[in-house]
Amino acid sequence: MKKNLPVLFVIFGGSGDLAHRKLYPALFNLFRKGALQENFAVVGTARRPWSDDYFQETVQQAIVENVNAVDRDLVDQFSRHFFYQSHDVTDENHYIELNNKIEQLESQFKTQGNRTFYLAMSPQFFGTISQHLKAQNLVTDTGYNRLVVEKPFGHDLESAKVLNQQIGDSFAEKDVYRIDHYLGKQMIQNIMYLRLTNPLFDSIWDSEHIQNVQVTLAESLGVENRGGYYETAGALRDMVQNHIFQIASQVAMKKPVSLTSTDIHQAKQEVLNSIQMYDADDVNRFFVRGQYAGNDSENSYREEEQVSPESTVETFVAGKLLFKAGPLQNVPFYIRTGKKLAQKTTRVDLVLKSSHDLFEQNQDNVISIEIDPENKLTVTLNGKQLSQTDLSSLQMKFAYTKDEVAQIPDAYEKLFYDFLIGDRTNFVHWHEVKTTWDFIDRIEKTWQEDAQPPFAYQNGSMGPNEVSRIFEGTTDSWVFKG
Ligand code: BG6
Repeated sequence: MKKNLPVLFVIFGGSGDLAHRKLYPALFNLFRKGALQENFAVVGTARRPWSDDYFQETVQQAIVENVNAVDRDLVDQFSRHFFYQSHDVTDENHYIELNNKIEQLESQFKTQGNRTFYLAMSPQFFGTISQHLKAQNLVTDTGYNRLVVEKPFGHDLESAKVLNQQIGDSFAEKDVYRIDHYLGKQMIQNIMYLRLTNPLFDSIWDSEHIQNVQVTLAESLGVENRGGYYETAGALRDMVQNHIFQIASQVAMKKPVSLTSTDIHQAKQEVLNSIQMYDADDVNRFFVRGQYAGNDSENSYREEEQVSPESTVETFVAGKLLFKAGPLQNVPFYIRTGKKLAQKTTRVDLVLKSSHDLFEQNQDNVISIEIDPENKLTVTLNGKQLSQTDLSSLQMKFAYTKDEVAQIPDAYEKLFYDFLIGDRTNFVHWHEVKTTWDFIDRIEKTWQEDAQPPFAYQNGSMGPNEVSRIFEGTTDSWVFKG
């Protein structure tokens, strides 16, 4: 790990929930490990009129609440790098005041002119902020200027293009870091290592050997207090356009020419470009949406706060993707995600084709990569039963120990370190955003024109029964049954 990286952060949305739960803890862990030391400062901005002292107290509280075993002195020391500026994102004078504050802190903390602007607030302001940053000269040529944006990046292809244009007027693509926090997860990063460094996997990672791939992002929680946002998104936009496509493209891409960020993005882009786009008939055959129906003790989606009682927004989606290029061309990728499902589990299962027919009960080999809540790899094989000559299923398991898991940095900490050192590998490229919105828009359009609302499903199930439709014409089925 590089030490004492000089940087000044401006966090837009500095009083918000994301900043407190994720961003400040991530910065603290980097401070504790030495990547950040004396030469960093943070300006938090939001509309509320907070003082620096009050802001520092809230940062201390965020650390105490969200980080294990903290040393209070270190937390105090850390919080003295934080400053607050009340800010209206549409008021150009506020950017001038912000710049004055930044310049003063740059000289106090010797941050060498390196500026990172982090947009942790409502996406409707992303374009306005980045344009003001340029117009009011907050983007300088003394050090680097990086822009970090949270999801969602647009609401559809059109809005994403507008946003990208606005951002592009102020920042070059190489300086834009689009966050997908799934790319900071240990086992997602591990997919590349596992598949590319083991002949055991590398040699079978193709359509000759793999029958299908299954990506499951299941959550047991409902929409909680995010009903307002969720009504404008739904599961397809919230989870498929970004997280599921990012995982699927890492599984489906060809071997990159090298491990540089450019070559990895190139390989991902090639496979994403090859995705089979669906017309309305295909959408109805290969995609199924659902909405949780509630029960005696739990709300239905329509009963959640800030949700319309007639909402047709989907809280579950399952579908089939096909890539027309790469080693897994034409191998079905079955994907699903939803709220209020049987359990929280994020996993990828690769089901292998049967290789011989000498034994009758030959079962499929499966490579299962569990991402959350466990960090685990399981390979399901065939072997001989103890007392008989029959086959039985054997499992080869690798899981990090409890101590190791405790040391795995949070996704945000990993991603923060990456953008501090300018490594863009685990961030989303504009081309990826563009292609995935194009795919998603076609599904949304079909659903909007469809009179049939999402299928209801029981809370605690694995989605509506109609999901089996996506396996039509095959003998495939889910590995993880919930
Ligand atoms: C976010 C979605 O991107 O991911 C949320 O907006 C979802 O709706 C969350 O709950 C899940 O993330 P994780 O890391 O808990 O799997």
